[in-house]
Amino acid sequence: MNSFVYLVYFFLFITFVPNYVKCFNISANDCAPFDCGKFKDLHYPFRKIGEPNFCGHPGFSLDCQSDDVQILFEEMSQRFRILDINPKGRTLKIARMDISDSICPEKFSNSSLNSSIFNYTEKDKMAALLYECDEGDFPFFISFPCTVNNISTSSYFVMETELDSPIFPSCNVSVMVPVMEKSFKTGFMSQKLKVDDVMEEGFEVGWSSMGEDKCEDCILSSGKCGFDFSVNEFRCFCPDDNAYALSCPSNTISIPQQPPPPPPPQLVVPTIDNIEPIEPAPSETAGNSPTL
Ligand SMILES: *[C@@H]1O[C@H](CO)[C@@H](O)[C@H](O)[C@H]1NC(C)=O
Ligand SMILES: *[C@@H]1O[C@H](CO)[C@@H](O)[C@H](O)[C@H]1NC(C)=O
Ligand SMILES: *[C@@H]1O[C@H](CO)[C@@H](O)[C@H](O)[C@H]1NC(C)=O
Ligand SMILES: *[C@@H]1O[C@H](CO)[C@@H](O)[C@H](O)[C@H]1NC(C)=O
Ligand SMILES: *[C@@H]1O[C@H](CO)[C@@H](O)[C@H](O)[C@H]1NC(C)=O
Ligand SMILES: *[C@@H]1O[C@H](CO)[C@@H](O)[C@H](O)[C@H]1NC(C)=O
Repeated sequence: MNSFVYLVYFFLFITFVPNYVKCFNISANDCAPFDCGKFKDLHYPFRKIGEPNFCGHPGFSLDCQSDDVQILFEEMSQRFRILDINPKGRTLKIARMDISDSICPEKFSNSSLNSSIFNYTEKDKMAALLYECDEGDFPFFISFPCTVNNISTSSYFVMETELDSPIFPSCNVSVMVPVMEKSFKTGFMSQKLKVDDVMEEGFEVGWSSMGEDKCEDCILSSGKCGFDFSVNEFRCFCPDDNAYALSCPSNTISIPQQPPPPPPPQLVVPTIDNIEPIEPAPSETAGNSPTL
């Protein structure tokens, strides 16, 4: 081919290709399954911090640096220690770092979960930690000691439903925390567990699919599961540097450096009739087309 043809190819590439091809520049080592603390072989929707953002859903970033595996919820300052992961059942057991490290935290804040990603499960119950309460005798409620700024005040740990009780002490601070109902009822109420223990046992959250059910097919087709921030959805990142909704087209697997796909026929400049554009790879599966 002469240089004119190359020029035309180049022109067509920069003009039209970016409209329907997205280059993710995914390297061979990116987004590999990973171990994080005691949890083995994790992959999408989880992402290990340090890997590119697109390897996981933004709600599932794991900090694997310490023995405690921590999950960082997007745009939220609270950190949660992960006690258990059940990827098939789509549940996590987590505990708030601040409150399980110290039941008298320096700053008080209610537990915040991004409810568009996670929901509580039926094993949870909402409880309240109450600080700076009136002194006095409240025999129906279990108090715990809490010293903040060297000042010791009465604190109580109750179920949310008990807050309505007319005989309840009045408190300056209330912190709403989800707990495992079992830990509270059979542990704390029977005084087998202390409030710290109940906090350390955490609570359970569930999520609905972030596209991870498509992940196996994607991996089998030599793709990598990830999250495309431009469409806010699961995508299968393929060796042809395209992102597909389901899996990689089978004929791209053995051609890692595929030439840029030709523009749609109507865009080909009519005067160049010596170019034989390679037809775009036909999609094997319905809906399996590159991201627009
Ligand atoms: C792709 O990644 C490689 C290695 O990380 C880097 O050298 C290169 O500049 C990147 N290319 C683009 C287009 O981002
Ligand atoms: C909650 O998650 C949704 C979906 O990922 C996201 O768009 C939103 O920004 C998140 N909100 C916060 C406060 O992180
Ligand atoms: C937690 O939420 C409750 C109401 O749900 C509110 O009364 C309380 O002030 C909040 N606590 C903090 C520390 O923000
Ligand atoms: C959580 O949300 C999903 C979908 O939104 C729903 O299917 C599931 O039943 C919910 N789980 C709980 C415990 O509310
Ligand atoms: C509650 O807050 C008020 C005002 O800050 C303070 O005067 C009072 O001592 C607090 N009560 C307790 C029990 O700490
Ligand atoms: C708390 O008390 C200890 C000893 O009783 C003292 O050394 C410390 O300075 C006090 N801290 C504050 C914040 O008052």
